[in-house]
Amino acid sequence: MEREPIITVIGSINMDLVVTVPRRPETGETVRGEMFDTMPGGKGANQAISLARLGATVNMIGMVGDDEFGQALIDNLQKETINVQGVETIADVSTGVAVITLADNDNSIVVVAGANAQVTSDYVRKHEDLISKSDIVLTQLEIPLETVEETAELCQKHRVPFILNPAPADKLSTSLLSKVTYLTPNRIEVEYMKGNEDLNWEDLRKKVVITEGKDGVVFFENDQEQRVHAYTVKPVDTTGAGDTFNGAFAYVMAKTKRITDACQFGNTAAALSVMKKGAQTGMPTKDEINRFIQELRTDK
Ligand code: RIB
Repeated sequence: MEREPIITVIGSINMDLVVTVPRRPETGETVRGEMFDTMPGGKGANQAISLARLGATVNMIGMVGDDEFGQALIDNLQKETINVQGVETIADVSTGVAVITLADNDNSIVVVAGANAQVTSDYVRKHEDLISKSDIVLTQLEIPLETVEETAELCQKHRVPFILNPAPADKLSTSLLSKVTYLTPNRIEVEYMKGNEDLNWEDLRKKVVITEGKDGVVFFENDQEQRVHAYTVKPVDTTGAGDTFNGAFAYVMAKTKRITDACQFGNTAAALSVMKKGAQTGMPTKDEINRFIQELRTDK
C-alpha cells in the first residue's frame, strides 16, 4: 500500500470564541447576539486537522499557554492523531484566541496571538529533524514573520516543498517568496501583495493559487489563468474553509504533484467544511469526500 504523506504544519493554535449575530454592530452600538460557542481553531491547527482527517501523517509545531484552553487544544490535536511532540506549553502567556463574528453568512475575525507569538525561529530550528523528514511543510502568518522566513530557509536546505498560506496578510520579502513552492492567498491577500511595490506580481504568478470562495480557485499555467470551479452548497459557517482547502491541497500535492487535482480536491473538502458550524467540525475525511462526489454523479 502506498504510504501516506508526512506533512509538518508550523502555525497558530487558537481557541475560537464565536458569536452569532443578526447583523454586525456599528461603532458604539450594542446588538443582541443569538449564540456563543467556544471551538478549537487557529489557522495552523485547522490546516493540521484538515490533513489528518484525509489520512496524512501530521506533525504540528506551535505553542499554547499554560491555561485551560491550551490543554484542551493539545487534547483536540491528539484526538485527531496529530503528532504534538512539537507543541509546547509555556507559562505566563495566554493561549491564542480568535473572536469571531458570524453574520450575513460570513465571518469576521479578530485574532490575539498570545502564545503563538512565542513560536520563534530558534524554536522551529529545534524541530529541524521533523522538517527534514517531511514531504511538505505548510505555514501561515499567525506566527512571527521571522519564524516563517526561518522555516523557508530550512525547507530550502532540506529540499522540502514549502507551501505558505499568507493569512492574515502581511508584507512579505522577495527573499521569502523566492523560497516558497506554492503561495495560497485569498482575494484580500492578493490585493495586499499587489500593493507591495517590491514584489513583481508577474514573477510570482507561477507559484500562486488564489482561493476565491464560492468562485473557486485560480492558478496560472504557462502564463494562462486556470480556474477550478467550486461546488455550490448552502453555507452554515465559512470559518476555516480556506484552511480546509490548504490542508487538502497540500495532501494531494504531496501525493501526486498535480495542481488541478489538488485544487479540485481542495474545493470539495472546503465545500463540505462550510456545511457545519466551526472551523474544524465539518472538515471531511477522504471517505466523506468520495461519497459526496459519488452522490453528485448519481444526481446528474
Ligand atoms: O482561518 C480561520 C481561523 O482564523 C480561525 O479558526 C481563527 O482561529 C483564526 O485563526
